[in-house]
Amino acid sequence: MGRCSTLCRLRPYVGRRWCKLLHVAVALFLVCLGCLETRVNHPSALVPSVQKASALVQSQPVKSLDSHSPRRSLLPFLLLHSATLASLAVWPASVSAAAPPTAETEPRTAADCVRAEVLTAAAGDPKLAAALLRLAFHDAGAGGPNGSIRFELTRSENVGPSLRQALSAVERVVLRCGVTWADAIAIGGAAAVEASGGPRIEVGIGRADALGPDPEGMLPNGGFTGDETRAYFRRRGLSDEEAVALCGAHTLGRWTSFLGVSKECMDRKDPDELWACSREQGQRLPFSEHPEAFNTEYFQDVAEAYRRSQAPRIPGAGRIKDRPLAERQRLDQVRRLNLLPSDNGLMYDEEFRPLVLRFAGDEKAFFAAFARGYKKLVG
Ligand code: HEM
Repeated sequence: MGRCSTLCRLRPYVGRRWCKLLHVAVALFLVCLGCLETRVNHPSALVPSVQKASALVQSQPVKSLDSHSPRRSLLPFLLLHSATLASLAVWPASVSAAAPPTAETEPRTAADCVRAEVLTAAAGDPKLAAALLRLAFHDAGAGGPNGSIRFELTRSENVGPSLRQALSAVERVVLRCGVTWADAIAIGGAAAVEASGGPRIEVGIGRADALGPDPEGMLPNGGFTGDETRAYFRRRGLSDEEAVALCGAHTLGRWTSFLGVSKECMDRKDPDELWACSREQGQRLPFSEHPEAFNTEYFQDVAEAYRRSQAPRIPGAGRIKDRPLAERQRLDQVRRLNLLPSDNGLMYDEEFRPLVLRFAGDEKAFFAAFARGYKKLVG
């Protein structure tokens, strides 16, 4: 007993048998403490209740061991030991019964990682969101959401710098978050919508990457009629409401008008060269007035373009320059609308028209239908 620790000095107070029992209890506690320390070194393995318990355990026993009053120091030791064991015992129950996790305690999933990366990237470059959303559509809309777009960038429907720029932003996300290209593109498109003020769309992971391109010519083109747009989206299991809402993606971004591009440029055979010179000579026109904001402006413009086209013709008015001054001034003030024939086609379709008008005045309905359609599109 000459080598005896603080505990043995209790022997006169508690007797030999109890002293031995206390030795065993403290030994167990120290083993337990070691386990907890190992867990603390791996914070991802800890749930909040255990974190609290281990913090409590770590902060208190050292003080107790140094204490010269054995009776006072042992009691907190044993209480803490029991509390630790109790908290470990109730761990699963307390996790399932807990309130929803806060941002700090919520584990960061791969999907959260992609979303966070894209929100940050889009905040630094206002044009990136439109390119990312189009990338997601062109990947999923031709052969399914499988990342095959990375082999298809030289096609005329995909050619141009913006999809390339979007793809290199996605590459960083793939490396940082450890997800497939297909997942990064699908989740990235949803995050791009959110970054621009649209709805938050929950998109999970699990898409496999294609090892080569999908067949060509499966995407809609800017000359589509309402019927062709309907047929395209129906083949992918989308309703009219979801199809029209998805077309509302054109609230973001621009399209390239070839008006004014020289014949010499238009005759180039190489798609990259054609794109380069037509971009230089052509015009990038925004679909809507605020092409970086995800809102109902696109539908308002599509409806307005139809109204203008239906306005009664002024008999014998002839060319605009020959019209009365007041009429010319009114037309000058009217904002120019930049829409593709496929956008205008929505209003010429009897079933699509009421949907365009509804979404033009009801952002909530637009966001909900868009989120549903987008989830179906990207699987
Ligand atoms: C009938 C259906 C559609 C047609 C015909 C169509 C066609 C086009 C065309 C021709 C452009 C311009 C490309 C350029 O000149 O740079 C464009 C841009 C765009 N499209 Fe579509 N699209 C359709 C549906 C969609 C859908 C469903 C989405 C997304 C869910 C989408 C997202 C976009 C975006 C965001 C842009 C702007 C890209 C940028 O500014 O970089 N489109 N689309």
